[in-house]
Amino acid sequence: MRSGVSPAATIEPVVPADAEAIAALAGEIWRAHYADIISGAQIEYMLQQRYDPALIRAELAGGDIGWDKLVVDGVIVGYAAYYAGVQAVEMKLDKLYVHHDHQRRGYGGLLIERAAAAARARGCKAVMLAVNKANAKAIAAYKKYGFRIREAIVQDIGGGFVMDDYVMVKDV
Ligand SMILES: CC(C)(COP(=O)(O)OP(=O)(O)OC[C@H]1O[C@@H](n2cnc3c(N)ncnc32)[C@H](O)[C@@H]1OP(=O)(O)O)[C@@H](O)C(=O)NCCC(=O)NCCS
Repeated sequence: MRSGVSPAATIEPVVPADAEAIAALAGEIWRAHYADIISGAQIEYMLQQRYDPALIRAELAGGDIGWDKLVVDGVIVGYAAYYAGVQAVEMKLDKLYVHHDHQRRGYGGLLIERAAAAARARGCKAVMLAVNKANAKAIAAYKKYGFRIREAIVQDIGGGFVMDDYVMVKDV
């Protein structure tokens, strides 16, 4: 039986002391989830590019990127990050991850709603994101929460790797 949102679940801002825990959680989720989608080498390259704890702390200190953590029974089991440029009409949901043991309980939806609220507060009209074309579960989740596919893109991310994505958008 699928269980729902735990009464002990909270969404809180990430703080600098969380950086190592977020990096470790990202590694666990990415190595399990993306194994069938991108190569192991690309997983390690992208983890290093995005989840170095020093980078996370620098992003938190910069203040332009919203970082939220999902905490269940005192443990960080998910996170989201999002940002809008100056005068941006769209918020970019740059990261959305829930540990596999806690998926399909509505937490992803709660994190999306938090990003949408931040977008509205910034005067943005939409939230957008890029998702790998082969990431069927995430695409299903995004459609469930009102995103639609706007375009397909291929981005060179260096190291001989590309991101082969759909851009999805949701009005807020
Ligand atoms: C995408 C993700 C954040 C959603 O988080 P979540 O807490 O599971 O989200 P919710 O419980 O709010 O919604 C789950 C919805 O996702 C979709 N989904 C999730 N797992 C699925 C699966 N195995 N098969 C089909 N659809 C699935 C469904 O639409 C599901 O709704 P349902 O349970 O009512 O059928 C989470 O699945 C995740 O972290 N995935 C791995 C990492 C990832 O791909 N992140 C996005 C990168 S762009």
